[in-house]
Formats: sequence, structure tokens, C-alpha cells
Amino acid sequence: MRHLIDFGDLTRQEWDQLYARASQIMDDPRQFLDTCRGKVAASLFYEPSTRTNFSFQSAMLRLGGTVFGFADPKSSSAAKGESLKDTIKMVSGYADVVIMRTPLEGAAKAASLYSHVPVINAGDGGHMHPTQTTADLTTITRLLGKVDGLSIGLCGDLKNGRTVHSLIKAMAKFEGVRFFLISPRELAVPEYMRSFLRENDMPFTEVTGLEAVIPQLDVLYMTRIQRERFVDPLEYERNKGVYVLTRRKLQRAKENMLVMHPLPRVDEITVDVDDDPRAVYFQQARYGMFARMALLADLANQPRLDCTEAVEIGTEPVCRNPRCVTQTERYLPPLVRQVGGVDCCAFCDSAIL
Ligand code: NCD
Repeated sequence: MRHLIDFGDLTRQEWDQLYARASQIMDDPRQFLDTCRGKVAASLFYEPSTRTNFSFQSAMLRLGGTVFGFADPKSSSAAKGESLKDTIKMVSGYADVVIMRTPLEGAAKAASLYSHVPVINAGDGGHMHPTQTTADLTTITRLLGKVDGLSIGLCGDLKNGRTVHSLIKAMAKFEGVRFFLISPRELAVPEYMRSFLRENDMPFTEVTGLEAVIPQLDVLYMTRIQRERFVDPLEYERNKGVYVLTRRKLQRAKENMLVMHPLPRVDEITVDVDDDPRAVYFQQARYGMFARMALLADLANQPRLDCTEAVEIGTEPVCRNPRCVTQTERYLPPLVRQVGGVDCCAFCDSAIL
């Protein structure tokens, strides 16, 4: 593995190795105090973050490495109109690994084309968030002993929730996972995710009600309605508060079901659920730090590429998704890939119409 842009790029074997490393770190962190000694991570966060940013910083510091970044994206040169390509060419000259979060879908993939060092996607708009998936899988494996064969309910904003998209991609690596996709109709998973599920023969049921399916679940993954991604504020108003997990609703769940959430929570889990032993979202955040330590131990120690490969220069974006990185970074190559027999933008996965 050279970058972590999309969880789909990882093989099952690579994931198993990453998890094994994360487990070793959890069991004996002292062995890893110098794993990244002398290594420097660049932290480029163009969108708000608490957990992802801090857990990466903490992970790097615990491995003996250091981190630099800006506190506020308005103080970076992107605010002066610098292109992503130029920022990455330069920052990857200062750092051994680049950790990046942006509102543009496909931006981490774009950065990886020009970077001299590994790029980690810490969230690209409403598209993907693969390191949250490393946290999620570590939590499930550690607490339930396996991922294969589980019934997983994903609930909330499945259209804009990047953690959900990454988790679905990851589950294609496992056997016999069944999804219940619980969302209002207008916040259902994007079409490219549906094609992905079908292409990989992953059974899924789309429903609008949470309570009826709770008894069947091994994992209930709650998500926030992603206010910042709504173009129409009325659409947000219609959907906010639509699912609220309460202690009463949990009574019908299996005794060992995990209640997970990438956090931050707004109102979709009431605070009286926090003390239920099935509520593992704060533990999940901590597991995320160990998973990121395992990832950095690998990526920050990869050799630097002095020369990056030449990249074709684009002229007109082929992708029509207004949130795709190719809409603003016009020099990007017109990369297309097939998902479920449909031509899709290789940056943001949207179907090319
Ligand atoms: C998520 C994100 O940023 O996508 N948070 C996180 O990284 N833990 C989920 C969210 O913001 O709702």
C-alpha cells in the first residue's frame, strides 16, 4: 500500500496485517515508541475535525514522530488561490506523510497523483473516509471477534455520510455481511454505492424505519445528518432529528449488539444510551487512534519518491458532480473507471452522464 485514499484499494490481507499491527500496539504500546522517530507528518485539514485530526496527531506523537499543519485553513495559501497540485508538491517536500481532509470529493486521490510521499485521505467531502473505517473495523473485530457474517444496520444520512460509504466498501472484503440501510428516501446511499453493493453480491435491504430492524442487527452504526452538505436548507430541516436512538428502543436489540457512531453526535443518540454496555462510540474513537498508529507506522516509513510520474493534463472536466475536485482543479486528468458496468469519475465515483 502506498496511499490510503479509498478502503477499496486495500486487499483483505493488507487489512488483516494492519489490524494485527493495531492489536500489537494496543497490547504493548511501549514497543512502538520509536517507530516513527524522526518522521514528520503534514496535517492539511481544510474542514472542521476534532477526532480525526487529534487522533492522527496523538498517533504520530505516540510513535515518536512529529506533526505540522495550519490551525485554520484561511491561513493557508489555498486562501490565496494556490492549486492543490502546487500545495501538495511543496508540502510533500517537507513531510514523510500527508494527512488531508477537504470538502472536495476526490481531492485526496488528486493529491496522490502529485505527492512524493504517501497521502492519507482523512475525509473528502461526502465521498470517503477510509481511516474512520479502520477505526470501525478495529472496534468490531476487537469487540465481536470477527466481521464475517454480521448483520450491520447503517442509519441516518447515507447519502452524504462518507464514513458509511467507506464502511460499505470495506465490507466487500469480508464474507457474508448483510446490510440494513436505514434512511429517509431522500438521504439514501448514492447510486454508485448501490452499484458497488450489487457488483459485489452484497445483500442489502433499504428501509426507512429503524425500530423494526433493530432486533436483527449485530451492529447499529448511527450517523449524523450532514448539515454542511445540504444545498437546500429546507431539505435539512425536513430530515434533521429523523432518527433518535433511545434507551427504550435499545431494549429490543440483541444483548451483544454494538451501537457505533463515528461522532460527532448531534441528537441521533440520546445521552441515556451512553451508559449502556452496548454503546461503544467513545471506545471506537480510541481504537481509531491505534488503527491510525498502525497505518502511520507503515506509511510514514515508506521511501520518498524523488520523481513522481508524469500526469496527463486535463482541459475540460468529464465529471458533472459539482462537488468533484475536477470542477475546481481544472488541470486534473480525465480519469474514468467502471463501477458495476457504469463509467464513473475515478476521483469522486459519480456516474459520468
Ligand atoms: C465523521 C466525518 O468527519 O465524516 N467524523 C469523524 O471523522 N469521526 C462523521 C461526521 O462528521 O458526521
